[in-house]
Amino acid sequence: MRKLWGGVFGEGDGEAFAVAFGESLASDLTFFAEDVRGSMAHARMLASVGILSPEEGELLLAGLGQILEEGPQRLPKDVEDIHTAVEVRLGELVGDVAGKLHTARSRNDQVATDVRLWIRGQLPVLEAGIKALQSGLLEQAKKHADTLMPGVTHQQHGQPISLGFHFLALFFAFQRHGHRLGWVAESTGGCPLGSAALAGTPFGIDRAMTATELGFDAPTPNALDGTSDRSFILDFLHVSNLLMLDLSRMAQEFVLWTTPEFGYLRLPDELTTGSSIMPQKRNPDIAELIRGKSGVPLGAYSQLSMMMKGLVLGYNRDTQEDKPAMFQAHRMTLACLEGMTRMVVAAEFRPERMRAAIHGDFSTATDLADALAAKGVPFREAHEIAGKAVRFCLEAGIGLEDLSLEQLKGFSELADESTVSALTPESSRTRRESQGGTGPVAVRSQLDLAQSLLEEAGFTRLWS
Ligand code: ARG
Repeated sequence: MRKLWGGVFGEGDGEAFAVAFGESLASDLTFFAEDVRGSMAHARMLASVGILSPEEGELLLAGLGQILEEGPQRLPKDVEDIHTAVEVRLGELVGDVAGKLHTARSRNDQVATDVRLWIRGQLPVLEAGIKALQSGLLEQAKKHADTLMPGVTHQQHGQPISLGFHFLALFFAFQRHGHRLGWVAESTGGCPLGSAALAGTPFGIDRAMTATELGFDAPTPNALDGTSDRSFILDFLHVSNLLMLDLSRMAQEFVLWTTPEFGYLRLPDELTTGSSIMPQKRNPDIAELIRGKSGVPLGAYSQLSMMMKGLVLGYNRDTQEDKPAMFQAHRMTLACLEGMTRMVVAAEFRPERMRAAIHGDFSTATDLADALAAKGVPFREAHEIAGKAVRFCLEAGIGLEDLSLEQLKGFSELADESTVSALTPESSRTRRESQGGTGPVAVRSQLDLAQSLLEEAGFTRLWS
């Protein structure tokens, strides 16, 4: 095993274990490109301030450029981590001058820089995943702007809404998550490169130059903080967790809605699986897997929080454990976003099933109370009257919308034709035109807003 720190050590028989136990190369390869880019920026800066001669700088940059081109497969495998691997490979390519690259830096500021860079590079990927889902949600929202479905509270039928309105609710939830990524860009905006091990360096380096070259906002202001901080990973995982929570909630709805009891939607063959014994089955495995995977980012968040809480300032090797957990959480978040997007895009809704579910479900009882209240009956009293009407219907085995005017008059003298027509789900939904409501005009303006948010680059606005 080749190491960067052999000088003071003899070879003992525990070495093999320690090396295998401490190895991080396999997981470090995820940020191979970021590590090499960090080294390139550092080499350019060292040459620019005269710590390296222009020729040395050129040599290092040429070698690093070649490493980037070759890709990680040409890196040595018998090394502890990515930083060592790149330096050893650089030595093979350019000779002893490779040893000068580590002037005025340490693996501590390197790794802290690499992880920030990697997260920053993944933010657009995550944003694109969110946008793709939102685009699918908006398409369905437009298509089903006026498709009636039962709106629920406590998972019990509450009031009729439109399916488009439901999709818009999800659209705005994901808009918030996209917006939250802006904070992750902020919290990863400081560049720790040049902090060296923990205390800075005696060399006259230009940290602003490396920070700018690598696309950071500024150098971190304190070397000890720059090398110790990992809270930005928690910020990133927080957003991943929220994304997964909403994906899981959606997955749960998809699972329910594909059951024969609901029958609200059908997923295409490629997004369902059969059973090895029951030939009729069409199982919503992708939705179930999304629900099942949704705990992973929170698991990583919790693992990293525990990891951080006992650490004194300065680099601690514990933090090597932050990366595999974060990578896995991120991979799953992206995969689940894609899976959900595919389901949203491909789902075939069955409006007739949703409409049938509303018939006779009393979800226009509020409308009866509202109609009476609009005629001057105090709402409390109107609520009571509507409750009695529901009880009557339950006993008679009919729905509220089946009541005749005569029957309604039996509950309130003020009932008239408009009261009768107020009791259809169509009318109930159509009348809810308050801003943000499920009425057709209100839904149209939400569709317009969603469309303009979707067309914006990034998630600069939450809404307006
Ligand atoms: N693999 C290490 C990590 O991920 C790299 C930094 C090692 N630094 C050190 N002083 N041992 O944190």
